[in-house]
Formats: sequence, structure tokens, C-alpha cells
Amino acid sequence: MEATRVLARAGIGSARVDAELLAEHAFGVPRGRLALVDPDPYQLELLRDLVERRSRRVPVQHLTGRAPFRYLDLAVGPGVFIPRPETELLVDWGLSALSALSALSGVDAPVVVDLASGSGAIALAVATECPQATVYAVERSPRALAWLRRNAAGVELSIVDGDVTAPETLSELDGRVDLVLCNPPYVPDAAPVEEEVRGHDPAEAVFGGPDGLDVIRPVIARAATLLRPGGWVGIEHDDSHGVAVPDLLRAAGAFDTVREHADLAGRPRFATARRLADFSP
Ligand SMILES: C[S@@+](CC[C@H](N)C(=O)[O-])C[C@H]1O[C@@H](n2cnc3c(N)ncnc32)[C@H](O)[C@@H]1O
Repeated sequence: MEATRVLARAGIGSARVDAELLAEHAFGVPRGRLALVDPDPYQLELLRDLVERRSRRVPVQHLTGRAPFRYLDLAVGPGVFIPRPETELLVDWGLSALSALSALSGVDAPVVVDLASGSGAIALAVATECPQATVYAVERSPRALAWLRRNAAGVELSIVDGDVTAPETLSELDGRVDLVLCNPPYVPDAAPVEEEVRGHDPAEAVFGGPDGLDVIRPVIARAATLLRPGGWVGIEHDDSHGVAVPDLLRAAGAFDTVREHADLAGRPRFATARRLADFSP
């Protein structure tokens, strides 16, 4: 396909997949049927325009306005972080933790908090895949909140406009939460990022201070207070944090069973821990 060649020439690594996704969007047919379609001049012009913008490093998800995440098809665009496939693994782990809590501790209506919710990817995945859970999504960016509210339409989800690092955020749930999940901004400020990220993901969604841990440190303290004894926390982090985040969880004195988890490429990706019974915040 000509679109693949144009994108490859522009240095887009995923040229073929991106070309197909854009063609699917422009022609209004699923990828598997592209070979059968006879696009009209308007559709061809639309595809040319999309390919040209993708060549200038606009993410595919901003061009189609959609981001798949587990079973969800989320609306995304300027002002919100595009959910990444690796975060699906954190959700997977969280759902397993909820199954274990149900089987071992009889927790059948768990309370779940998604800190730094962005488009709502994590919170909505948990709310739809574990409908018996009561799920809270905390986010403070007004632009991200607008996308979150749009994605949450029709789903049972409590959206909280708040700072995930502040002790007063959701303090009414302190000691009552079964699972805290968090994909915070975690890239160290000086780390190089792809042009798509620099130009299109909001900086406050990506960068986490000089060592990337500025939000993770208070989130660990917040999770220690929110969780009930035996509750679980899972925090996604930069691949340079495979030792630092588990160390921070151990140092908090509030958790046991601290574990580090790798993504499908084998890179350190998220850390998990269980709230101790005998910790008093
Ligand atoms: C990496 S994005 C994750 C979004 C979503 N959870 C996901 O996995 O796709 C981090 C999000 O945290 C939000 N954020 C950053 N600092 C925050 C804070 N102190 N309080 C609340 N939200 C914050 C950003 O606006 C952004 O939406």
C-alpha cells in the first residue's frame, strides 16, 4: 500500500500497521476487508491527509480518536495520555488480586481506586471486567477529566477531581480500599522521549520529576493509608525503576509481599505489594 511506503520513508517503525489503521478509519471498514474496498476520491483524500499528519509524528490514536485497551475502545485526543498496551498487564494483575481476595477472604464487592486515571483506561477496565467492584478514578487535569467523563458514560464509576498525592483525596475511604492501581507520570524529566510523546502526551502525564519518582513516593504513602489490611497496591513505573519502586514499597513499612513484574519485552514495568495488618499510618 502506498500509505505504508510513505510512512516507512518518514521513519515510522510501525508503518504497515499504522497505514492499515488509518485506512480502516478513512474507508470505514475493518482492516481484514481493506483489500476488498473501492474508496471514493473523498476517502482517498482523507487517507492522504492522515498519512501526511502521521508522517509528522501525530500518534495514530489522535488521528483516529480511538485507543483500544483490553475490551474497551476509548476516546482519546489532545490533553489526555494515550493508554499503552503494557498497562493492560497491571489491570490483569489487579483482576487476579481481586479474584484471590474473593476466593481467600470472601471479598465479593471490592472497593478499587485508580490513581492518576487519565482517559479512565484502568478504572473502566476494572469496572467493566469486575462489575461487582465499586471503582473510583482520581485525576486532576481538567482536559483529561473531560475525556474520562466521556469514556465513563454509561459505566458505574465514581470520578474524583483531585490530587493523587494529597492525603485529603478520598480520605473518606481510608482503611477501606481493597485494591489501589496507579499508572502515574514516571519518566525522569531529562530522559529522552519519542516525538509522538513529547508533542502529544501532556507533560504532566509523562514526566515525574528529576528521578521520575515525584508522584510515586506520595502515591505509596497514600496507598498505605487507603488500603485495608490485606489489600493490594500495583504501581506502574519506568523501566529504570525496577529496584527503586520495590525498595520504596519496602521502606514504607506498610507492606509485605513486595514483587516486581516485567512486561512482555522482559522490562521491569510494575511493582505490587500487600498492606500489612499491623501498620498504623
Ligand atoms: C501516565 S498517565 C496515566 C493515565 C491512565 N491511568 C493510563 O494508564 O492510561 C498519568 C495521569 O496522571 C495525571 N496526574 C499527574 N499528576 C497527578 C496528580 N498529582 N494528581 C492527579 N492526577 C495526576 C495526569 O494528568 C495523567 O492523566
